[in-house]
Amino acid sequence: MSNRWMAARLQGYPPSVFAEMSALAKARGAVNLGQGFPDFEGPEIVKQAARAAISEHHNQYAISAGEPELRRAIADHAQRFYGQAVDPDHEVTVTSGCSEAIWCAAFAFINPGDEVILFEPAFDTYVPNIRMAGGVPVPVTLRPPDFRPDPDELRAAFGPKTRLILVNTPHNPTGTVLNPAELSLIAELCQEFDVLAITDEVYEHIIFGDARHRRLAQWPGMAERTLTMSSAGKSFSLTGWKIGWTIGPEALQSAIRRIHQFTVFASVTPMQYAIAAALRLPDGYFAELRAAYQARRDFLLEALAATGLTARSPEGAYFILAGIERFPFDHADDFCRYLVTEIGVAAIPPATFYIHQAEGKQLVRFTFCKRWETLEAAAERLVRLRA
Ligand SMILES: Cc1ncc(COP(=O)(O)O)c(C=O)c1O
Repeated sequence: MSNRWMAARLQGYPPSVFAEMSALAKARGAVNLGQGFPDFEGPEIVKQAARAAISEHHNQYAISAGEPELRRAIADHAQRFYGQAVDPDHEVTVTSGCSEAIWCAAFAFINPGDEVILFEPAFDTYVPNIRMAGGVPVPVTLRPPDFRPDPDELRAAFGPKTRLILVNTPHNPTGTVLNPAELSLIAELCQEFDVLAITDEVYEHIIFGDARHRRLAQWPGMAERTLTMSSAGKSFSLTGWKIGWTIGPEALQSAIRRIHQFTVFASVTPMQYAIAAALRLPDGYFAELRAAYQARRDFLLEALAATGLTARSPEGAYFILAGIERFPFDHADDFCRYLVTEIGVAAIPPATFYIHQAEGKQLVRFTFCKRWETLEAAAERLVRLRA
């Protein structure tokens, strides 16, 4: 449908396939393993902290950079989990989710014509945000079966026009957690080509087995040129609260704070107090989150393997990217329509996560951030896919 009022910069972005699949799932009563948010609640103690913050009059505009209590909690969390020393006054900015942090970073650091390296498949806001800021996305494709960056392709992506690299680890949707060798190569290239690094670490607490989440900001020479971004949504199963943050040197924060000030200005005040409490939950909470997701991952992997889909076990995040090459569908869009209408399970064809869309046409994303009943109902239905 043509829309003469829509600005030119927005043309060329079709409505997202997420909306189509969700509508189909609802109409067909399908089990929804498409949408990447939990169908269970976050910790009661954190919800109680939000109620208390509202009762205690934390209801007016927050300080633009974030309430001091939350910035202190973010700094203490960085020290506790990574031994990272962070100055809460000058090196932290609170945003409305990591999504806002990504937007702020695009507009704070990209000049028109600058090249921005990213791994594809990429979270669906990255490319539009880079382009709207005038940047040129340069994708490095993560391919099956192991979805790891090829060192030569990564090196070849860097050049004189490269301004920044956007790194997502643990990675949505492949589940790859970058290892020390990969992070070292990124650090080396950033310094060789004088490039800024932005890291999206929203799945930092959802990692499995021996995988360990590491911060690029802590690699030698990287603290001064890395902005670390994360948020509360995934770690506390409270995706609707939209509290995120950036950690990084003052020079980067002053640019981020300027964009934040001119757009959102301040993030929701009572939720900032509640997330400060969440970040101080004991280690046991984070261990339980990991264990709960690991059990769900294993269950869904087994259910998918039994159907003939090819799936690698993700090291982190809460998605499984499965291959449909054994099924008679040329494109994942058609496979997903069949899956939702005939089998009763919704999943996401990840072509929108790619610039080279053909790379994703034989892949389908399932999420396991769901209650056991939901996963069991999906597994029962998926059996019919094998038949
Ligand atoms: C990789 C990645 N980055 C950022 C976000 C958005 O985070 P938030 O809800 O904090 O804005 C998501 C949400 O799905 C994500 O998967």
